[in-house]
Order: sequence, then structure tokens, then C-alpha cells
Amino acid sequence: MPRVVVLTGAGISAESGLRTFRDADGLWEGHRPEDVATPEAYQRDPLLVHRFYDARRAALLGVRPNAAHEALAQLEAALGDDLFLITQNVDDLHERGGSGRVVHLHGELRSAWCLACGARHLWEGSLGSAPPCPSCAVRALRPDIVWFGEPPYWMPEVLEAVEAADVFCAIGTSGLVYPAAGLGELAAARGARTIELNLDASANASRFHEVRRGPASLLVPQWVDEVLGE
Ligand code: APR
Repeated sequence: MPRVVVLTGAGISAESGLRTFRDADGLWEGHRPEDVATPEAYQRDPLLVHRFYDARRAALLGVRPNAAHEALAQLEAALGDDLFLITQNVDDLHERGGSGRVVHLHGELRSAWCLACGARHLWEGSLGSAPPCPSCAVRALRPDIVWFGEPPYWMPEVLEAVEAADVFCAIGTSGLVYPAAGLGELAAARGARTIELNLDASANASRFHEVRRGPASLLVPQWVDEVLGE
């Protein structure tokens, strides 16, 4: 079986009803990204930032994984450790679609990180009311999200997997945010075959060996069938 690395972005969750980041007006649910998704924004106006992420965390309750998430769970069931699934998404739709091992490069909505003691806790409610940390009781919980200007999580593991991949597949990502956007090129340089499945042309589409255009719910199950048929 080939060693497969999959990188997903907001496009895989679009058909579940979650908005992607870069809509035509350049705004992200009505906010400029630098107003809500930077450490500076959090220092300046923590309540605004908490409200933004509290709303997004609450929105998870109203959405369900789609056929693309489920197909990747089938791929994991067949490949086991030979699948390495990386997501830039902070939603939990891969997990709810059945994937057991998901590397969240940009953090997770359903996690709170205590700036006082460093503990992380599964979090389903709001953070805007400044609840105490369950570990140390200090009211210093922030969303466990990688903001612009902060280093992504799990990079050593990600680079090791990408460098060892036989197949690299990017799904539903605009290819604008690094280092994630550079992983396909790295995989290709190390000998992997690379493929992009995306609705529109991404910023780095020309760097993939193969590009398919269309909705993830259609393209991902097709591609998974092909990989498993090989
Ligand atoms: N099926 C497949 N692709 C889709 C679909 C769909 N149904 N709907 C949209 N897309 C594609 C769009 O064409 C676009 O190229 O998904 C991509 C989404 O791009 P972005 O909104 O930029 O999302 P993403 O690439 O995940 O953003 C990367 O930027 O703001 C930061 O940290 C945030 O993780 C995020 C990162």
C-alpha cells in the first residue's frame, strides 16, 4: 500500500455548511482576519476575539460531516498508519466523520488552552465569560487556535510524513497560507505523486502533478476509490 498524506482546508467542510475563510469581499464572517485572528487582536480586544470563536464553536453543533470527510475515514480504515491526515481546519468534522488520527495544524475550536498553567481542555461552551481553568482555576483560557504570526502545531511530525509520502493530496485549500501551502511542493521534491482536489484554481495549482476541479463531496470519494483500487 502507498504511504499517503492528505492535507485538507476549509473547502472540505464547505458543503457541511461552514464558510471558507476567503470570500470575495476579503472578510471572514464580517471581520478582517487581523481583527480577530492575531495575538495582537487578542491583546487589544479579547472579548471580540472570544465572541468570534465562541460563535464558530457553537456553529459546530449545527453541522455534520459530508461524504468527503467520510471517504477519508474509509481510507484510514484501509491504510492504517500509512495514511497521515493533516488539516488546517479547526472544526471537528474529520473526527465526527470517523477519522481517528487527525493532525490539526492550526489548532481546534473544541480545545481551550490555559495561558497560566499551559493545560489544554476539551471545551464545548463559551470562553467569552472568562471561565476558570479546570486545572489551575486562573481565568486565562484562550482559544487553542494558531493565529496569524504564530507557529503551526506538529510541524516536525508533518515534515517527516510529507518527506516519506508516495502520494500527497491537497483538498479544499486555497494554497495561500504557509507553511501548509508549501507541503505539496516538498512532497513532490521527495518523489511523491501530488494531486489537488479543489473547487477553484488554488494559488499553487500549477505545482501539482494533477489537478481536479469540483466539489469535495464528489471528488474525494472518487479519488479514495481509485487509491484503494490500485
Ligand atoms: N469542495 C472543494 N473545494 C472547495 C469547496 C468545495 N465544496 N468550496 C470551496 N472550496 C475551495 C475554494 O475554492 C478555496 O480554494 O476551498 C478553498 C478554501 O480556501 P480558504 O478559504 O483560503 O481556506 P484554507 O485554504 O483552508 O485557509 C488556510 O488560512 O485563515 C487561515 O488558518 C486559516 O486554516 C486557515 C488557512
